[in-house]
Amino acid sequence: MAQLVPVTDPADPRLADYTRLRDVNLRKSLEAEHGLFIAEGEKVIRRAVGTGHPVRSLLMARRWADPLADLLDGVDAPVYVADDAVVEAVAGFQVHRGALASLVRLPLPPVADLVAGARRLLVLEDLVDHANVGSIFRCAAALGVDAVVLSPRCADPLYRRAIKVSMGAVFAVPYARMDNWRDGLGALREAGFTLLALTPDQAAVPLDDAKTGDRAALLLGSEGDGLTSHWLAEADQPVCIPMSAQAMANGVDSLNVVAAAAIACHALMRA
Ligand SMILES: C[S@@+](CC[C@H](N)C(=O)[O-])C[C@H]1O[C@@H](n2cnc3c(N)ncnc32)[C@H](O)[C@@H]1O
Repeated sequence: MAQLVPVTDPADPRLADYTRLRDVNLRKSLEAEHGLFIAEGEKVIRRAVGTGHPVRSLLMARRWADPLADLLDGVDAPVYVADDAVVEAVAGFQVHRGALASLVRLPLPPVADLVAGARRLLVLEDLVDHANVGSIFRCAAALGVDAVVLSPRCADPLYRRAIKVSMGAVFAVPYARMDNWRDGLGALREAGFTLLALTPDQAAVPLDDAKTGDRAALLLGSEGDGLTSHWLAEADQPVCIPMSAQAMANGVDSLNVVAAAAIACHALMRA
């Protein structure tokens, strides 16, 4: 079993990986600098470890060591045990799910390799909300999408909140990040994908009439502005999920991007 290391000082430098987990800017730079990410809760930690991510360390209250004993058996990294108050002081909030793990990020595949064997893709342009990204991965996993491609600026699926909301689906659905926003869609088209741009614009082709072809990629836009005009112009077809007349009359002119992804994935997987 991994060595349990008691810690009592929230300022202990060995706990630096777990500092202020809700501070998005701090976490972005810290995680990029050290090539790490944080998983929270037994189920998610098991999935992360099970998909080959090396463990840097774990941090938990002593009572969580027994339920995780089988996992800790195979871990060759320190397991820091501390009072709840110490964990809270480091992380910046009460960690209800028990254990935290710091894991090593694995290199992402090039987009061309990722999509080589895929038929159904989601492509996310510049989503900013980590919970939305995590939820979309959960939809993708649940509905059988083969892979997810991220624009260069899209929010990180391995941010703690994204992992948590996805229930670990970010480890189940392969993904890659485009190097180049401007030419990224061209490369997908060359790989044989029909590019369907999901837009709330009700003049677009209704989802049920969209021509998907053998290989299809659904493009989803950011929470505020939606897809950029460049990606809309690059797509083979703009596609809308019809909104009710009543919704439009009441000024509800779009769906949340997660709801749009779920409806569109469901339709895509039946096509
Ligand atoms: C909140 S919406 C963005 C709204 C933005 N004002 C626009 O015009 O696109 C975020 C994303 O969800 C998808 N979406 C939302 N409602 C949709 C609908 N009715 N049909 C198809 N896609 C939709 C689109 O991909 C959109 O870019």
